[in-house]
Parts: sequence; C-alpha cells; structure tokens
Amino acid sequence: MKKSRFPEGFLWGGATAANQLEGAYNEGGKGLSIFDMVKFVPKEERGNDFSMDVYSEKELEELLADNGEGNFPKRRGIDFYHRYKEDIALFAEMGFKTFRLSISWPRIFPNGDELEPNEEGLAFYDRVFDELLKYGIEPLVTISHYEIPLHLVQKYNGWTDRRLVDFFVHYAETVFKRYKDKVKYWLTFNEINISTHSPYIGAGILVDRVENKEQAVYQALHHQFVASSRAVKACHEIIPGAQIGCMLARMEVYPETCNPDDVLAALEEDQKNLFFTDVQVRGYYPSYMLSYFEKNNIQIDMLPGDEELLLQHPVDFLSFSYYMSMVASGADKEKEIGNFFMGVKNPYLEASDWGWQIDPKGLRITLKKMYDRYQVPLFIVENGLGAYDQVEEDGSINDDYRIDYMRAHIDQMGEAIQDGVEVMGYTSWGCIDLISASTSEMSKRYGFIYVDQDDYGNGTMERRKKKSFEWYKKVIATNGEEL
Ligand code: BG6
Repeated sequence: MKKSRFPEGFLWGGATAANQLEGAYNEGGKGLSIFDMVKFVPKEERGNDFSMDVYSEKELEELLADNGEGNFPKRRGIDFYHRYKEDIALFAEMGFKTFRLSISWPRIFPNGDELEPNEEGLAFYDRVFDELLKYGIEPLVTISHYEIPLHLVQKYNGWTDRRLVDFFVHYAETVFKRYKDKVKYWLTFNEINISTHSPYIGAGILVDRVENKEQAVYQALHHQFVASSRAVKACHEIIPGAQIGCMLARMEVYPETCNPDDVLAALEEDQKNLFFTDVQVRGYYPSYMLSYFEKNNIQIDMLPGDEELLLQHPVDFLSFSYYMSMVASGADKEKEIGNFFMGVKNPYLEASDWGWQIDPKGLRITLKKMYDRYQVPLFIVENGLGAYDQVEEDGSINDDYRIDYMRAHIDQMGEAIQDGVEVMGYTSWGCIDLISASTSEMSKRYGFIYVDQDDYGNGTMERRKKKSFEWYKKVIATNGEEL
C-alpha cells in the first residue's frame, strides 16, 4: 500500500446533532428546544423558501398550541435516544475513529436558566459516551447545535440578553466536569454564522420583539463570542489536554468574472463569512467589521474585560461545514443558488437535488485559504450529499452518487494536506440518515446507514447498510488511500 496522504491518527468519522437524531423530545426530563417547534412543510408548499425561522410571539404561541398534533419531525428524530447502541455498533463496524454529536442543552437544563442539572439527561450522555469509548471511538461534542432551550427564547428573547452568557457557561462547565474523563474534543456553537440568516435558530431571537434586527443579531453574536471564550477558558481549566474549537458554515466565494467589481464583491462576501472565525481564532473584531458597524449604525454593547477575554481565549482549532461554494457578482444579479446563503449560479458546477453546487476543489481552496489566514489546525466536521435514496427490491441501496461526491471531496482534502495544510479529521454529515436541518425532511438523506422513516414519521425505523457503508469502511481502513 502506498504511503497515505493523511497523517497517522487522522480522525475519520461521522457527524450528527441531537435535535435531528435523538427524538424522545419529552422523555428523560428534557425541556423543549427551539427546533422542537419547527414544523415540516412539504416542498410543493415551501418552494425555494428554506427559512426555518419562527419570527414572532404569535407564531410561537400557535406552534405551542398545536400540542404535538402537527408534523414536527425533529421531535421524533430517528430515535437514537433508544437505539444508540445499535447505531454505535454500526459506526464501529465502519471503523469510526470519532463520532460527532451534540448534547441537547434542554436535556441537561430543561429551561436553560436553572442551577441544578437534570441527572437523567446527564446519565443518558454517560451511556452514549461509554458505548463509544467501548469501541475506541472518540466523542467530538458540540455544546450548542441549534438546541437552545425554548424557555430562554420566551423569557429573555434568546442571546440578545447578556444573561445567556452565564447560563451557557454554567451549562458548559457542568458538561466539562461531568465528562472530563470521556470527552477530549469539543465545539462551542455549531455554524455560529447562521444567526445573520436565521436569528431564531442561531440565537433564539424572535425578531418581532426587536426594533432593529441587524443590531440585535450582532449584539447576540457578541454574547456568543464572549460565551465561547469563557467556555474555552473553562474547558482548558477543567480538562487539561482537551481541545476546543469553533464551527463555521464555510462558504468559499468566487468572483463571477475577473472584472475587479466581481472580485471585490467576492472578497467582501468572503469577509462576511470569515468575520466569525476572525473573532474566534484571532481574538478580536476585524477592522472591516468595525467599519461596517459604523456605516450601518450598529453599536455593540461590550463590557469592560470582553476584549481581553476574546484575545486571551481563542479556540484551539477551527472546524467547519463544507457543502458547496458560492459566486458573487458586482452587478445587481439575482441570487438563485444556495440555502441560507445565496449566490449567483456557477456554470461550471453541477448541483444536488436541493440546488447545492457540488465543488470538491472548492474544499481544497478553502482549506488552503483558511490555513494561510489562521495557521491553526482545521477540522472538517460536516460534508456530504443530501440525496433521495431508492431501496431496491432486494433491499439494497446503491448510492454511487454519494460515493462519487465523497470520494472527490476526500481526494481534494488529501491534496490540501499534501499542500501543507494541517487537518485533524473529517466527519461526514449525517453518517446515519436523519432529519434535515433546513427542511425537516427525512427524504433528504446523507447517511451510510438508511433509516426506514418517511417525511411523516411512517416506517419501522429499521437501519440498513447502503453501498457507501462498505466503501467508507475501506476508506478508513486504508487511512484514506483507497478511495
Ligand atoms: C448544517 C447543519 O447546516 O448542514 C446541520 O450544521 C445540517 O445541522 C447540515 O443538517 C445539512 O443541512 P440540511 O438542511 O440538508 O440538513
């Protein structure tokens, strides 16, 4: 076998989130989370509207009054809460070195602002981590992945209120102390940049309660930055040797042409995306953003000591999701491609059934660019193809399109490593089929493992290996050399 491009100890695995996976939304003392309130809307009705936000008090009240009769897929997930042993055994069979999951904040603090944690919730993750460690799989834990306790929205309007910093830090310290012998890799906020697009999902903000949406979102983000730095500090103090990272929905942005107007538009779009990691990795607000705040009359309320804290406690590594790239134009063109983040169509790329433009080389470009900029280890914690899968009469699922997608991306990651980029690991998104974050569909599948459930919750929940299962197993066994 020729020498692998991937370093020894490279963390191969898969990624998930509690709200899309666990189900059991009202068991074990768990409180409601923001995502428990998001209903399924069929594609025919939704059209191209991917927004999953809840905007107003009234809307939230209506959803609460629904009393579980409506279709809320994230409440049922794929029942990992009861089936985690079976699922982890399958991950182990594929040879996973790591498994990314999130802790559901309202499972530990049902309202979010209590002092005492919910022991049943803590005990559940003990069982999950023990099961992973039994197979030598390192847990990679996201502390907050769109699972803000709903009560924090109702009472405080989410992260707009500075008190959430303390609630979050108390929650983070609780899980650091409890799992300090079991978990070495942590992430603070999943896709911290999401709240500029979805204030409710990213920061638990009902926008009808604020005067100026942008102001409220950037203030909430400041609170998250501070909370993240305090969590980094606490993690280092409580778990010596642990590593804690930030997490960005990365969008590599290309200019539509070499016209300097397009190049400038792409640069500025890219800055909007990298602002978050600039703060969390470099430890200070970049000047382009301060200037943007000034031009747009946004005032960030900072307390004395905030700036020092950000500077003194940056993250250890930078993790990100990568699904597609974007194109920016200097001209006023329709942004027709994307999801939460929209861009101009790239004629050189094909797109998935959901219009996400497939761009493996973009992954190499982005790895190189981010490593140049930050010089800290990078971790790809989400990548994959959401697709419709077909179960054949003999029960097989021949997802060659998924294998092709992943092969091309892993290959480009290998090339970036050869170019000198430090990459810690790769966890493909939705290693087992789960509920889609943006559309709440079950039929948008990412997994190596098929789960028998449809968009309405019909099905046996039976797990079944897809063709990609054996393929990924071989990739891991050869440390990425046999693709
Ligand atoms: C990221 C999220 O946005 O992309 C995940 O961190 C999400 O939670 C993933 O599931 C894929 O998006 P979607 O909308 O296809 O589920």
